[in-house]
Amino acid sequence: MLEIRNIDVCYGDVQVVWDVSFSVQSGEIAALIGANGAGKSTILKTISGIVKPSGGKIIFDGKEINQMEPYDLIETGLAHVPEARRLFVEMTVEENLDLGSLKGNAKKLREETKTMVYELFPRLKERRKQLAGTLSGGEQQMVAIGRGLMSKPKLIMFDEPSLGLAPILVRDIFEVIKTIRSEGMTILIVEQNVKLSLAIADKAYVLASGKLVMEGTGATLLDNEHIKTAYLGV
Ligand SMILES: Nc1ncnc2c1ncn2[C@@H]1O[C@H](COP(=O)(O)OP(=O)(O)OP(=O)(O)O)[C@@H](O)[C@H]1O
Ligand SMILES: [Mg+2]
Repeated sequence: MLEIRNIDVCYGDVQVVWDVSFSVQSGEIAALIGANGAGKSTILKTISGIVKPSGGKIIFDGKEINQMEPYDLIETGLAHVPEARRLFVEMTVEENLDLGSLKGNAKKLREETKTMVYELFPRLKERRKQLAGTLSGGEQQMVAIGRGLMSKPKLIMFDEPSLGLAPILVRDIFEVIKTIRSEGMTILIVEQNVKLSLAIADKAYVLASGKLVMEGTGATLLDNEHIKTAYLGV
């Protein structure tokens, strides 16, 4: 479904991603892990067209997308739930969700998809008229995920969905991610919660200083000595 081939990414003169390659198969959960500043968010931004790679190729659903713009990529079935949520704080929950389905098929299916999002997050249904800026952190994360789902994506990318949430909510969010996969979506997740993300990932990639240094199944990496000491605090 998604293939990243030898991408390099620079901000101005500074290169932050070096020759990174990986792939995500249809129906799979793939995780990208690594320390702060390793380049995880940059890679997601590059896939979703916010940042352009200076080298390499990105192929999504059989099509080369390296130079496509984010608003066109949404229509090809690629959704990005960014770090720090990025909601429209002066708009209601429902208006934020609607913004995820502005065009094409997603617009046609808006009410139906919204019903699905409200089933996934009953809390949002209760609060649909509340301004997003007044929601709790966990509720805001639910809106961000819901908005991504509103575009009817084939592949959805999550950047740190558990950041700043209490442990119980973190588990809820991971359960929701599993449900989303069981509904047929493909998932690429970036997480600081290495343990939980490896536990749900079919495949995981480890990034260090902009380079891919290790890959394997979630289970293999959970059991890896280097991963245990560097990321799991064992
Ligand atoms: N807009 C930007 N301009 C210049 N440098 C940037 C920009 N965005 C990110 N960087 C740099 O690129 C590197 C990778 O950043 P990135 O945000 O991708 O890391 P990350 O792995 O997501 O880290 P974190 O876990 O802290 O979110 C960092 O050194 C960062 O300072
Ligand atoms: Mg990041």
